[in-house]
Amino acid sequence: MSVLKVRGLWAGYTELDILQDVSMQVKAGQIVSIIGPNGAGKSTLLKAVFGMLKPKKGRVVLKNEDITGRQPNKVARKGISYVPQVNNVFPSLTIQENLEMGAFIRTDDFSGRMDEIYSLFPVLKEKRKQKAGQLSGGQRQMVAMGRALMLNPVLLLLDEPSAGLAPLLVSMIFEKIRQINQTGVSIAIVEQNAREALKMSDYGYVLAMGRNVLDGSGESLLNNEEVARLYLGG
Ligand SMILES: Nc1ncnc2c1ncn2[C@@H]1O[C@H](COP(=O)(O)OP(=O)(O)OP(=O)(O)O)[C@@H](O)[C@H]1O
Ligand SMILES: [Mg+2]
Repeated sequence: MSVLKVRGLWAGYTELDILQDVSMQVKAGQIVSIIGPNGAGKSTLLKAVFGMLKPKKGRVVLKNEDITGRQPNKVARKGISYVPQVNNVFPSLTIQENLEMGAFIRTDDFSGRMDEIYSLFPVLKEKRKQKAGQLSGGQRQMVAMGRALMLNPVLLLLDEPSAGLAPLLVSMIFEKIRQINQTGVSIAIVEQNAREALKMSDYGYVLAMGRNVLDGSGESLLNNEEVARLYLGG
């Protein structure tokens, strides 16, 4: 069953279309990577899925519901959470407050969910009274993911969660993403660490200049010579 289906999407910030006829899909339980050079439109694709850009043409379908052009708060209520590439925590709020912000549209008791997130990221529990702005890059990324998980999404959109992190922290973040996926959350991830991302991905898409270039299983893309040469650094 497919959780997300993007079909023939055209979208941009001005009259100019950045995304040109982009299609992709995430099936239930999958991790799907989107890779490609700077400016390819990877972040734009996530923004269009989350409703931050109104597509000019094409469809975004969540499970069986057409959510094309819905506002982000509506999309979030439908089960998609989004972690932006930058500015993805509230620096002047504590960790605990950041997680509470993630749950702002919940009217039920979310303390159990917060406990689950703290057990996924024990360091966040330890530091829950510290301001997010004082944390290391890896810890801030955990806060951002934790915040996004507060709504129990069916699909998590991650934009370069490992950007700017030291290699050891990159592995740690990727391990956390695997663990999140194992709790049943489907994941679409944009990554510069394309090789590492493809290794844990069921499927991958290569975008360039706003268009689909190639797609296939994570393994097939890793073994594709052209992909390796152009997008994985040889
Ligand atoms: N807010 C914006 N307003 C206008 N143009 C934008 C905006 N954000 C991005 N763009 C343009 O859209 C194109 C695609 O950008 P996008 O951020 O989606 O690329 P990307 O694949 O995520 O790149 P990167 O790997 O650098 O993050 C680029 O030409 C960029 O300059
Ligand atoms: Mg980007």
